[in-house]
Formats: sequence, C-alpha cells, structure tokens
Amino acid sequence: MHRRAFLLATASLPIVSLPALADTPTIKVVKSPTCGCCVAWEDHLRSEGFTVESHAIPDEELWDIKARLGLTDETSSCHTGLIDGYLVEGHVPASDIRRLLAEHPSARGLTVPGMPMGSPGMEMGGEVEPYDTLLIRPDGRTEVFESHS
Ligand code: CU
Ligand code: CU
Repeated sequence: MHRRAFLLATASLPIVSLPALADTPTIKVVKSPTCGCCVAWEDHLRSEGFTVESHAIPDEELWDIKARLGLTDETSSCHTGLIDGYLVEGHVPASDIRRLLAEHPSARGLTVPGMPMGSPGMEMGGEVEPYDTLLIRPDGRTEVFESHS
C-alpha cells in the first residue's frame, strides 16, 4: 500500500516546476525506519536548500522499490530518493544532485553504492574514504559522474 501510494505520487509529479521552487527542489525519499545515516543525509540535503519528503517504509517494500527501479547489489545503498524523474540512491552529495538537475542527462539517476565513510550523512570523526558518484544510464550501465576524495 505504501509502495503503491509512493509510486502514484511519483508518477504525478509536475513536469514543470514553479520558478519560485527552483532553489528548493523537493526530493522524495524512501528509507528503512531504523536507518540513522539516512536521516543525516536528509539533514545534509535540507542544509543545502532541498525540501525533503521522507517516507519510512518496511524493508521489503524498500527493496521492492529498488528492484523496480532497476537497482542491483552493485548499485544500491540504504535509502532511495526520487527527484525530477531521476533516482538518487545512497549518500549522494547535494552538489551532484544539483548538477544532475542542471545538466539533465539521459539517465536513470545517480548512485553512491554502499555507504562510503565521509560521504554526506556518513561522517565518522573525520575518517574519509574516496568514493565515486555514478551515473546510471537508461540501459543500466554506470559511469563515473563525480569523484570525491
Ligand atoms: Cu546510509
Ligand atoms: Cu540511508
């Protein structure tokens, strides 16, 4: 039921957003009710000017949504965001999302697979591991969108 409502809501997103909202894009996020790093990532997005519409749903529904979006073990992470027809999987920095929206490539969206330490929402006392934000093309292939170190 949650999933259905979520997908319906996503399908009815307006294609043209109002100019007044351009600086505060809304991202819908589905996540596990028990995930703390997801909340930290949402806080990161809010501090970068995004409006976050957050849905905590049972894990089976979350994995079902990921599967429907074509996410695999290699491309998935904890939470899944949807914005402007794109999926945003895992701890993707707000700057990458803004670039995605500005460049509007032919793609399913962005992912930071796994949960790299030092990515937004995964700050652990200054410990940082380099990671790449990947662009997922319509055929499911990935390429590096942005490298972070
Ligand atoms: Cu996480
Ligand atoms: Cu998360």
